[in-house]
Amino acid sequence: MNILIIGSGAREHVFFHKLLESKTNVSLFSINPNAAISSISKALHFDFNFQNLKQAIIDNSINLVLVGPEIPLIEGVYDFIKSNNEICNTIVIGPSKNGAMLEGSKDFAKEFMSKYNIPTAQSKSFTKESLSEGINYLKNKKGPYVLKADGPAAGKGVVIVDKLDDAKIVLEDMLVNNSFGKSSETVVIEEFLSGIEMSCFVLFDGKNYLTLPYAKDYKRIGEGDVGLNTGGMGSISPVSFMDEEMYNKIDERIIKPTVAGLINEGIEYKGFIFIGLINVNGNPYVIEYNVRMGDPETQVVLPRIKNDFLQILLAIENQNLDQVELEIDPKHYTNVVLASKGYPESYNKGFIITGLEKINRSIIFHAGTLLKDNTVLTNGGRVISMVSSADNFRKALKKSYESIDLIDFEGKTCRKDIGFDL
Ligand code: AMP
Ligand code: GLY
Repeated sequence: MNILIIGSGAREHVFFHKLLESKTNVSLFSINPNAAISSISKALHFDFNFQNLKQAIIDNSINLVLVGPEIPLIEGVYDFIKSNNEICNTIVIGPSKNGAMLEGSKDFAKEFMSKYNIPTAQSKSFTKESLSEGINYLKNKKGPYVLKADGPAAGKGVVIVDKLDDAKIVLEDMLVNNSFGKSSETVVIEEFLSGIEMSCFVLFDGKNYLTLPYAKDYKRIGEGDVGLNTGGMGSISPVSFMDEEMYNKIDERIIKPTVAGLINEGIEYKGFIFIGLINVNGNPYVIEYNVRMGDPETQVVLPRIKNDFLQILLAIENQNLDQVELEIDPKHYTNVVLASKGYPESYNKGFIITGLEKINRSIIFHAGTLLKDNTVLTNGGRVISMVSSADNFRKALKKSYESIDLIDFEGKTCRKDIGFDL
């Protein structure tokens, strides 16, 4: 079976890694891959757009496309493939464009949650035309103020400020000065929720769903979870504060109505639903939907799944997820991300990474790396995910940090406090 994975970060490295373990004979194809992915797949090199993708599917007789990142989904890669006679038989794991609206438009997601009574922060959406109403809305609320660009903004579209004056400035900046481009033509103003966040991943085949192990990510660059937002500096799974009661509340109040809503709306959806949750005094609320797996959570979630990953993907396609029983490794998994100095702001690339061959107690998933003349170089803000497992998360973390000590590159940085809050 010929499988093409879109995306070339650590999340996708996990997908490749899991598919290589499959009992089925698979040929894996990647697009402009990082160092690790290039060594375990056939690397295709092209500018990513749908026409080039179509040609790659035809040229390499691709049977299945697994979509890693959100942008191709939001732009309708599923619909493109399914509506094209020459490639419509290719299996696509990922939702249709309508389904991807759950991530592509916060306003859409809010309407959806309101219609299906899914607990989330109270909110109201505004455009340039309703700026003054927006300002009045802010005046009637207490801080902190949460302002969200409606469209995709690479995880940077949420601004939280304490003071009303700052909130007004941010709102005007988003709506009038388009501080997030087209993505902030609509802004969602939301009630601030206080609690611990966690990540919920659901496999959905359009009829049945399966919940993957819960995870928690650490988004900020600074220790103690302060400073700028990043793509994610670490993650852990399982989540210690998830008990059966919370699990059932999430299932009943959030997951069931979400999948029922998608079915009721007639939305084609065969893929992952990633629900960002916050636990407010024992009650779960949705912070956001994503329509893909999370990064860096995938690095601790999928290695815990013992099933043949390809069989899971085929069950999504064949709508028989109800016949899959997940086999979950009870061990604790931790992921500490190694980043380039300066990330998430500007950083340099092209530094030699040494010590990779010394790692034998952790798994390395590559993010921004490049193989050049048999040497592995840094090639991005987030460089490597160091994943370890043990019978408790402290031991697992210790392993990850010991492994990190064996790796070196100029400007190597990581957070020393992953899991600090548990
Ligand atoms: P999002 O892109 O919607 O996940 O938001 C990014 C981050 O902003 C979340 O992970 C939260 O830490 C924070 N956030 C978003 N919405 C809220 C809210 N209503 N209350 C408190 N924090 C929030
Ligand atoms: N870890 C958060 C995300 O993937 O968006």
